[in-house]
Amino acid sequence: MTVSSVEVSEIVDGLSADQKQISPKYFYDERGSQLFDEITRLPEYYLTNTELGIMRDNIDEIAAMVGKQASLIEFGSGSSLKTRVLLEHLSELAAYVPVDISEEHLCVSADEIRSEFPHVDILPVVADFTRQFALPAPMVMPIRNVVYFPGSTIGNFEYDMAIELLRVMYHEAGRNGALIIGVDLQKDRQTIENAYNDSAGVTAEFNLNMLRHLNRDYGANFDVEEFTHSASYDEDKGRVVIELVSQTDQVFEVADTVFDIADGEAILTEYSHKYTLDGFAAMASATGFKVEKVWTDANQLFSVQFLTRQ
Ligand code: SAH
Ligand code: AVI
Repeated sequence: MTVSSVEVSEIVDGLSADQKQISPKYFYDERGSQLFDEITRLPEYYLTNTELGIMRDNIDEIAAMVGKQASLIEFGSGSSLKTRVLLEHLSELAAYVPVDISEEHLCVSADEIRSEFPHVDILPVVADFTRQFALPAPMVMPIRNVVYFPGSTIGNFEYDMAIELLRVMYHEAGRNGALIIGVDLQKDRQTIENAYNDSAGVTAEFNLNMLRHLNRDYGANFDVEEFTHSASYDEDKGRVVIELVSQTDQVFEVADTVFDIADGEAILTEYSHKYTLDGFAAMASATGFKVEKVWTDANQLFSVQFLTRQ
């Protein structure tokens, strides 16, 4: 892989802040993507199964709202698990464009989808969707673009960045386009904290793997054994705070920049925001979208929402 100086500066800047932080996009090297897939199969991680259930229960209505000959553009497609439900039910799709930062994982997933859906034009794009990127033109002219953003990945962004990302999707959707988005909902602390502190320790491994990724690809020398995973729900802010906590006073380097970290000091690696339906609708409306339809599960754990332009 090619290491861009923009990414190195981003990492160094984040670690130079009072609250040391590293963007969650650095979770996703090949191993990180595999660990995320393992997370989705954990009994505590209610998000994936609940969202899949909502998709399956309402797929006829969802497919009718998408319509014929759409181009389906997925941000952060990962293993395209939920997308398969859509692909099975969308007739005459113009193209499926999975966009992801995790190159090897995206290539493998795209090949699998190609063999499962040979009639669909599959156009994978390796890109960081928080920066400008170009989308390919499908062979068949689409009637509309439908952006798909499942998994509640929107929750990994703070308000201003989430708004910016929704605006990018608004632009990509175009005049008669739409956005189908998975949005995790606020609920009791225990259910949420269990989802991010699983008993098998997979989430801890996923979090720590970020340091291994930085060691391998960004000239860092973290002593991974000297950090531990932490995840707690901040009810006031409606978000899980995921951190790596130093177990000793230590020094580490990233691309020749030296950092001190104290015993007990944390590096913030991710927020995972949980929303109310009203709160998310207000955020969507600030970007020009309106919520046309919301589907939830019986326990109101998670929502899938269909947004169009106001
Ligand atoms: N959509 C899948 C995967 C969610 S995990 C699901 O719902 O299960 C988040 C995905 O977004 C990962 O595949 C990760 O590689 C990708 N991702 C995270 N940040 C990204 C970024 N800045 N640009 C592109 N892809 C990103
Ligand atoms: C990708 N994203 C929505 C996951 C989440 O739940 O916030 C990432 C994750 N982090 C720890 N477990 C899962």
